[in-house]
Amino acid sequence: MKAVIYERYGPPEVLRLAEVEKPVPRENEVLVRIHATTVTAGDIRSRAFDVPLWQWLPARLYLGLTKPKRAVLGLEMAGDVEAVGAGVTRFKPGDPVFAFAGFGFGCYAEYRCLLESGKPTDDGIIAHKPANLTYEEAAAVPTGALTAAAFLRKANLQGGQQVLIYGASGSVGTYAVQLAKALGAEVTGVCSSANLDMVRSLGADQVFDYTRDDLAAITDRYDLIFDAVGKAPSSVKKGLLKPTGRFLSVHDSADLQPDDLNQLKATIEAGKLRPVIDRTYSLEQIVEAHRYVEQGHKRGNVVITVE
Ligand SMILES: NC(=O)c1ccc[n+]([C@@H]2O[C@H](COP(=O)([O-])OP(=O)(O)OC[C@H]3O[C@@H](n4cnc5c(N)ncnc54)[C@H](OP(=O)(O)O)[C@@H]3O)[C@@H](O)[C@H]2O)c1
Repeated sequence: MKAVIYERYGPPEVLRLAEVEKPVPRENEVLVRIHATTVTAGDIRSRAFDVPLWQWLPARLYLGLTKPKRAVLGLEMAGDVEAVGAGVTRFKPGDPVFAFAGFGFGCYAEYRCLLESGKPTDDGIIAHKPANLTYEEAAAVPTGALTAAAFLRKANLQGGQQVLIYGASGSVGTYAVQLAKALGAEVTGVCSSANLDMVRSLGADQVFDYTRDDLAAITDRYDLIFDAVGKAPSSVKKGLLKPTGRFLSVHDSADLQPDDLNQLKATIEAGKLRPVIDRTYSLEQIVEAHRYVEQGHKRGNVVITVE
């Protein structure tokens, strides 16, 4: 099968198309014919590893100390089930699915096997595709939306509470705004000028422009401040919380649950959640797509179509 591989850490140009062996599903695995995948911040970081070794040492030990152990990146995808192992009960050939591949990556390819049920972070999560999304849209949901949902759960966000989402225009941020609204919270988004209307359109009650507004002068106080890009200045982290409020950064940890993707499917089908797609590239254009995402300014998600 066709896949994008990389054999050393480095710039986008280390990625190249190659022929690799098509996987065969084991007892409890589902084989998916992939129609779309994405370029996430996690793909960029795992490809480049341009930070001092000690900073990401646990990840580097896992992914490969001197060169990548896993040749194929890609954290999420949507496609059709092509075959299932004998022990699989929830999926059958032909089912449209979407999935988070977990630390195993491997979605920059025509096929990927996933456990029907495993440990969400390590083995990934697979679910039936929301009926109202295309494959391209569905592929852009798992990583960002699962992360946003996990952090809002960690914060125990309740209806009526006030939440500020810092970095509301990225993948995690656009999902966090919508999921917080779906929970009934009052949502303030912080993004740059070009994204104010988009973040408002996702349901934010109020938006601030971090390039123009003095965020330290905001008079509201929040039950939760969620930094969805890990770049909130300390005036936001510390100055805008209620006395009982909580600050969470996307760089902290948050647990995924096996049923999270099914719940997102239901929220999407109820019309309360949708992916923001910035650009779409083909698998052959993967280098270009990585160059774009590496700049750090994508709006929502960047999709890769797999023929
Ligand atoms: N803990 C986890 O399990 C987990 C899971 C997923 C992702 N992450 C991490 O979460 C972070 C965000 O991921 P993502 O995919 O959502 O990122 P992303 O989509 O690549 O974020 C890009 C967005 O961030 C905005 N941005 C950049 N600098 C900003 C700043 N100083 N202030 C406010 N907004 C800014 C950009 O808008 P403008 O520049 O145009 O303003 C752009 O819209 C990444 O570091 C990723 O590795 C963690």
